[in-house]
Amino acid sequence: MNIKSMKLYSHIDRVYNELAELGKSGDVPLTAAEISEFDQLHYHGTEAVDNAIQMIGIGKSTRVLEIGSGFGGPARYIAHNTGARITALELQPNQNQMASELTERCGLSTNLTHVCSDILTHDWQQQQFDVIVSWLAIYHIPERKRLLALSRDLLPSGGVFYTEDLFSRQRFSNEERAELASGLYASHLPDLETYQSEFKQAGFSLERVDDMSDDWTDFTTERLNDYRANRARHVRVHGEPTYLAMEEFYELVSRHFCSGKLGGIILLARKP
Ligand SMILES: C[S@@+](CC[C@H](N)C(=O)[O-])C[C@H]1O[C@@H](n2cnc3c(N)ncnc32)[C@H](O)[C@@H]1O
Repeated sequence: MNIKSMKLYSHIDRVYNELAELGKSGDVPLTAAEISEFDQLHYHGTEAVDNAIQMIGIGKSTRVLEIGSGFGGPARYIAHNTGARITALELQPNQNQMASELTERCGLSTNLTHVCSDILTHDWQQQQFDVIVSWLAIYHIPERKRLLALSRDLLPSGGVFYTEDLFSRQRFSNEERAELASGLYASHLPDLETYQSEFKQAGFSLERVDDMSDDWTDFTTERLNDYRANRARHVRVHGEPTYLAMEEFYELVSRHFCSGKLGGIILLARKP
């Protein structure tokens, strides 16, 4: 399976189209706030990032690692709003390249470093972080046990792992699994109990677990409806192929949440 089978990642030029709409093409300087409408690839945008900042207590001296940083939206928001030093790790070269460029244009390169690599193989050379954050990324990563063991090693005692992620509320059929594996690039979707026990077995203590399934069902359904309601605008700005790809992606996500089988979780774990 190729990660680009997920339509969210197949037409990333849509960011440049939105910048052109704002009259900010080329290398015109940007602010993190003006691009936050289209650089956040998770639910509830910067509001969710703000909640995480408060919940974790991220401040100027916090060393943060974001796993699966996408277009760099959450990392830029954290860097801009807290002054924390952040490393944003992203697997896909074209997304990482665009994220770096946007960060540069936002004047945030001093405290935000973009790294293009796979969390499962990256050599951190003794680097440590106080906090690891991750929005809608770790369900992509196949080896949860290995991911959590190496994450634990990157944290000092008292360090935090915060994630917003997906899980399985009910058993998926083989057809549903296949569709999620390609359309959502889903590699690891355990049930809620297994999800938590994997963190405990990796030596983390769980401080907070919120089941977001109902909330994210509503969010993703409204997102689809809004996208369709603004079809003319989106086709004008992005062209028909991009519109259709994003509509297909939003429909797939909403449908699987609405079936009651796909679930959402916010989890905050600490290394004792
Ligand atoms: C849904 S996006 C979320 C991006 C960002 N966290 C946000 O909320 O805007 C998840 C990202 O995780 C990245 N990813 C998946 N597997 C990864 C891995 N093994 N190492 C690093 N990044 C990974 C994907 O390429 C993708 O860009």
